[in-house]
Amino acid sequence: MKKILSMMLISWMLVTLTSCHNGGTSFDEVVANRRSVRSYDKSKKISEEQIRTLIATTQEAPSWANIQATRYYVVMSDEMLNKVLPSMMANQEKASTAPVLIVTTYKRGLSGFFDGKASNELGDTWGAYDAGLSNAFLVLKAKEMGFDTLIMGLRDADGLKRALDIPNDETIMTVVALGYGNQSPKRPERKPLFDIMKIK
Ligand SMILES: Cc1cc2nc3c(=O)[nH]c(=O)nc-3n(C[C@H](O)[C@H](O)[C@H](O)COP(=O)(O)O)c2cc1C
Repeated sequence: MKKILSMMLISWMLVTLTSCHNGGTSFDEVVANRRSVRSYDKSKKISEEQIRTLIATTQEAPSWANIQATRYYVVMSDEMLNKVLPSMMANQEKASTAPVLIVTTYKRGLSGFFDGKASNELGDTWGAYDAGLSNAFLVLKAKEMGFDTLIMGLRDADGLKRALDIPNDETIMTVVALGYGNQSPKRPERKPLFDIMKIK
């Protein structure tokens, strides 16, 4: 009887824990609380294990024929951060406060292709679509883990390629700053729903 009761207690605890959505953070809360943060507390570090959890979550994003053409270069040593910063153009000051900068690329000629041929009029741009989806998973998972992010499209792709030795068959997309933000930006206004959606 004692054994059955303790088994019931353990199952109840498991059900309660799993229904808590990782400490009570629901998807809607993560979405509502994520903001582009442009200043970080660099003294608060992020571990390689946390990075692995984060990037592993991006692997769950959908991609063209599950081709998984998105690549990540995670810059987190002081030496490499200093090497990458000059390529951050107008974002240099913001990026300099982040303990981690994540460069997103995609391998060309994969996403949108079947048998080596582009499947439709969008040619080799589907890799950018997949990388964007992957970044969406990244920024939302980061928020759920208690971090802040800033996606940066203003960057010098050639400079990043040289600094990080990125192969020529990859297209540089974004640099994502990751860390503990030290500001709480207001939510930028969104357009009215019916400006962006038509139900036909
Ligand atoms: C593809 C892309 C490129 C962006 N590039 C920059 C950038 O170079 N610098 C910057 O400060 N913010 C950049 N942002 C952040 C946007 O300005 C921000 O997402 C937008 O203002 C909405 O704010 P929110 O993210 O807080 O909702 C970029 C966002 C995206 C998705």
